[in-house]
Amino acid sequence: TGATGANGLTLSFNPVAKGVADALVVPAGYTATVLMATGDPINNATSAYSNVGTDDAASFVSRVGDHHDGMHYFGLNAAGTAIESNNATKGVLCSNHEVAEDLGFVHEAGPTEYGDKSTVARPTTEIDKEVALHGVTIVEVAKSGTTYQINRGSALNRRITAATDMEITGPARGTMMVTAYSTAGTNTRGTINNCGNGYTPWGTYLTCEENWAGYFHRREADTARTAKEVAAFKRYGMSNATSGRYNWSRPGATDGTDLYSRWNAGVTGASAAADFRNVGNTFGWIVEIDPVNATSTPKKRTALGRFAHEGAWPAKPVVGKPVVFYMGDDSRNEYIYKFVSTALWSASDANAGVAAGDKYMDSGKLYAAKFNADGTGTWELLSMSNSKVATYAAYAFADESDVVVNARIAGDAVGATKMDRPEWGAVNPVNGEVYMTLTNNVSSSGRGSTAVPLDAANPRYYADTKGTATNRGNVNGHIIRWKEAGGDHAATTFNWDIYLFGAQSDADANVNLSGLTAENDFSSPDGLWFSYATPGLLWVQTDDGYYTDVTNCMMLAALPGTVNDGAETTVTNAGVPSGQTAVKTRVGKKTSSTVLRRFLVGPKDCEITGIAETPDGKAIFVNIQHPGENSTSVTDPTQFTSHWPKGGSARPQSATVVITRNDGGKVAV
Ligand code: FEO
Ligand code: CA
Ligand code: CA
Ligand code: CA
Repeated sequence: TGATGANGLTLSFNPVAKGVADALVVPAGYTATVLMATGDPINNATSAYSNVGTDDAASFVSRVGDHHDGMHYFGLNAAGTAIESNNATKGVLCSNHEVAEDLGFVHEAGPTEYGDKSTVARPTTEIDKEVALHGVTIVEVAKSGTTYQINRGSALNRRITAATDMEITGPARGTMMVTAYSTAGTNTRGTINNCGNGYTPWGTYLTCEENWAGYFHRREADTARTAKEVAAFKRYGMSNATSGRYNWSRPGATDGTDLYSRWNAGVTGASAAADFRNVGNTFGWIVEIDPVNATSTPKKRTALGRFAHEGAWPAKPVVGKPVVFYMGDDSRNEYIYKFVSTALWSASDANAGVAAGDKYMDSGKLYAAKFNADGTGTWELLSMSNSKVATYAAYAFADESDVVVNARIAGDAVGATKMDRPEWGAVNPVNGEVYMTLTNNVSSSGRGSTAVPLDAANPRYYADTKGTATNRGNVNGHIIRWKEAGGDHAATTFNWDIYLFGAQSDADANVNLSGLTAENDFSSPDGLWFSYATPGLLWVQTDDGYYTDVTNCMMLAALPGTVNDGAETTVTNAGVPSGQTAVKTRVGKKTSSTVLRRFLVGPKDCEITGIAETPDGKAIFVNIQHPGENSTSVTDPTQFTSHWPKGGSARPQSATVVITRNDGGKVAV
């Protein structure tokens, strides 16, 4: 079945067929084993998980979190005390946990009402579980036979949750971060909605705060705030609804503790003594974590800007050059960003730990991307030193702190390009080209609406194959890529094209622009990751809502080419609102099963997100998020849409799986 693709590589597995079974399907000759599922203990002192909601709330800080998402494997030295990048037999695995299951499988009979948001005070035992299910799990793993197991006795094992103390570093440390928790504005409590991830050349883990805005509410009248504060709240989607996502603020409670009252971004909420007007400013950041020091305080790196961070992906560092991270803001019509450090890379900082983060991540230039119709692009500087920012009429930026806290507004000021929901990015180690998924953009104010016209970088508007009038816009998503001028990641100009368009293989050719077939058709790309053990191998993961009648979410292996290896094309869209016309764009070389092939299909109602590999490329870790999320009961198994991974009548669980090849070879090639 093999055929040589890019970089001399050959995909050597048989493609997995689309399917809707409640099973994790990998190619023949491969084995997938569950490493850690929601609720599993991370130490020997914690009991096995009941998975029926009866576990003690306090135990959840020692249990694997929920909704596994981005992750990374760091090799360890023999003593298990420091990073040793090439060790494939012993490592530390860091995994994000995005949210707590909305249906409440961790509670005995589901949650008390999440929401009469103004009067219901939820039990703290439920809130404590949900707070602990967010954040990051860090566990030591070791090779065991043909797979990997957690070392529950390791001193490295740790949970970071929505209640963990965090330090704030960089330009926004101080005034705009002042809350009752930290009157100096140097610290905040917790990290939430940890979606995609990142890692640094100095051996630390990056977790990212995506849809944090929905966790807060601002119950007070806006008259208590300045017009600027209100404008910023609105730009970031912090509503004045009466509750946040889980109603964690316990309205009416008199506990007086910021553990709960802080979810009310106000001054007169649950606790009159608590002023948390600025609490929203302390979320929406890239958070750096030392994976080999279980007592270290995570650092929120504000120089990288505040938005709905999907993740942060480093370019390969070059000695004497800045360190560069690429980032996406996953909301409809938001921007792609990059951070360029002030400090220049020194090889002696490889695996130097968080001290190197202080050096490289607290000072630098933050940019937003502008994609031009002619296939060129520019990085627009977000700083008071850019007159477009300093003199922006719609929002009077005060200083660099205001710019990073309100990076989206700075992006508006410089005219950055509104994208179709930027999710994961990845840098091709073969040639330095940068890829980013644009998962989809469908809504009345989404792509192709009057407010958000088609452009060359976001060129499709069509109905999905079900043809419903409401499912219009960029239904299946695409993957954009660019090449920095001169191959320099610090450059301010680039050339771009669209590597791949998601589509159903039976769709019209104007929709299936990449020529996908039954062996590789997909919708809504999200996770994206270039292997380092196998340079040139790209993994694509999906989080789809438009093709799930035909197939569960999936992961594909790809051998991509290069920017501008395809052709200029005019996308003939259907049903575009009047005043908008077909758009010319650049599409990468058409795919075939030789260079893009489905590797995995997940269980029902899951998203496939998060991937890591061992340094020898012989094992990959993949996260299966929220199987069974469309279940309608947590107590009646007949109403569960999935029982994965335990099977039988079990409640479904998110989980990390290890995938290895039965002959012990490298995965996929
Ligand atoms: Fe949490 Fe953008 O996916
Ligand atoms: Ca995602
Ligand atoms: Ca997604
Ligand atoms: Ca999800």
